[in-house]
Amino acid sequence: MAAEKINIAVFASGSGSNAENLVHYFKNHDAIHVKIIISNNPSAGVLERAKRLGITSMIVDKELLHNEHALTAILDEQNIKFIVLAGFLLKIPDWMVRRYKDKIINIHPSLLPKYGGKGMYGIRVHEAVREAREYETGITVHLVNEHYDEGRILMQAKCKVTEDMSAEDIAEKVHALEYSYFPVAIAHHILNFRD
Ligand code: GRF
Repeated sequence: MAAEKINIAVFASGSGSNAENLVHYFKNHDAIHVKIIISNNPSAGVLERAKRLGITSMIVDKELLHNEHALTAILDEQNIKFIVLAGFLLKIPDWMVRRYKDKIINIHPSLLPKYGGKGMYGIRVHEAVREAREYETGITVHLVNEHYDEGRILMQAKCKVTEDMSAEDIAEKVHALEYSYFPVAIAHHILNFRD
């Protein structure tokens, strides 16, 4: 009998292009499965994507996120082992960090510790990179702890920034890195995980 797959939940607040990329990547994976997509935002594009992709989705608002008992019941029912944040804007509560120790993976669109922290998300990150005239930027895949963007770094990948690039141009390059590296970094962490 084939071994049971490891289920992950993908949390996203926005468009969800990374979430969709993860669904495609893990579709035929022999060990990992995207079981559910969770959003705090009822009008997030990621929910449309989930529907189109045939993946179960759910709204988890701030209140539910902080309700350990209720959310644990939902995640346990889906047999979720790891949580992936792909543009999820609410802060992960301490109870989740404790319960899923080293099992919550986030992607940040800069080379942390640069351009991270509260309020640093989306196009703001790329604007800041452009204004600082950085010659490179990139992505950071990291574990989630009690502080924004400060958990252990799993991997980083870089791209060049030139002076003629707009924040949108930078965002496009960074997104391309995310699509290539995020799924691989997730699989690597999960498959090498030791409790
Ligand atoms: C990505 O740039 C990711 O790094 C950040 O939020 C963005 C989400 O983009 N945390 P999308 O919704 O996956 O297109």
